[in-house]
Amino acid sequence: AALTQDNLKRIAAYKAVDYVQSGMVVGLGTGSTACHAVDRIADLLRQGKLSGIVGIPTSTQTHQQALSLGIPLSDLDSHPSLDLAIDGADEVDPYLNLVKGRGGSLLREKMVEGACKKFVVIVDESKLVKHLGGSGLAMPVEIVPFCWKFTAERLRLLFEDAGCAAKLRTFSETGEPFVTDNKNYIVDLYFKKDIGDLKAASDAILRLAGVVEHGMFIDMATTVIVAGKLGVKVLNK
Ligand code: A5P
Repeated sequence: AALTQDNLKRIAAYKAVDYVQSGMVVGLGTGSTACHAVDRIADLLRQGKLSGIVGIPTSTQTHQQALSLGIPLSDLDSHPSLDLAIDGADEVDPYLNLVKGRGGSLLREKMVEGACKKFVVIVDESKLVKHLGGSGLAMPVEIVPFCWKFTAERLRLLFEDAGCAAKLRTFSETGEPFVTDNKNYIVDLYFKKDIGDLKAASDAILRLAGVVEHGMFIDMATTVIVAGKLGVKVLNK
C-alpha cells in the first residue's frame, strides 16, 4: 500500500500494540491514530492472540468504538493503576513532551495516561516539532463554560508577550461552541512566539480559576513511536 498519512498512523499504532500483553489493563487513546490501535487490540483478542485485556477508554468516542468491537472495558475508579496506555498526539517535542486535545479530548486522556506505568505515543512524522506551540497550531485548554470570555481573555493575557490569540472552539457550520465529554468548552491558544518554559506555562494556566486542564502533556510519554516514509523510529524516555 502507498504510504499515506493514514497508513503511517496505522503502522505506528500496530507497533504500539506489540507492547500489549495478555491480562493487561490498557488505556485506549482517542483520535485517528489511536483508533487503529483499538482496532488492532480487538483483532488480536478475536484471533485469541491476546486475552484478559481490560480497556480504559479516554473519551466517549473511544468508549463507543471499543464497545462495538467487544473489548472488555472498565474505568479508573475500578483500575486506578494501568499497565500501559496508547494514544496519539498533535505535537511531540525532542523531550517527548506533547500537545494533545486538538480532537477535543484531553482531560480524560490526561487522567488515564497519568495513571499508567508505560505511556506509548503513536504519531506519523508530521507531528514532530522543536518547541510545543511553536508551529502556529492550536494549544487546547479545557475551561468551564461559565463566563468563558473572561477565562479566554485571562489566558490570552498570560501569554501576551508570546503574541497569544485565544479562540473559543466552535463548530464551523453552526458557530455553536464545541462541548467536551465533560460538558466543558475548549479555548485554543495560538502563539506568535515561543512560550518558553513549559512547566511555568502549565502552572500559570492551571492557576486560573475556570481552567479545567490544558493539552500540554509534560514528562508523561515513556515511548514515542514515529512512523515516517523511511521507516519507524522508537524514541524512549
Ligand atoms: C484527542 O483530542 C487528541 O488528544 C488526540 O490524541 C490527538 O489529537 C491526536 O489525534 P490524531 O491521531 O487524530 O492526530
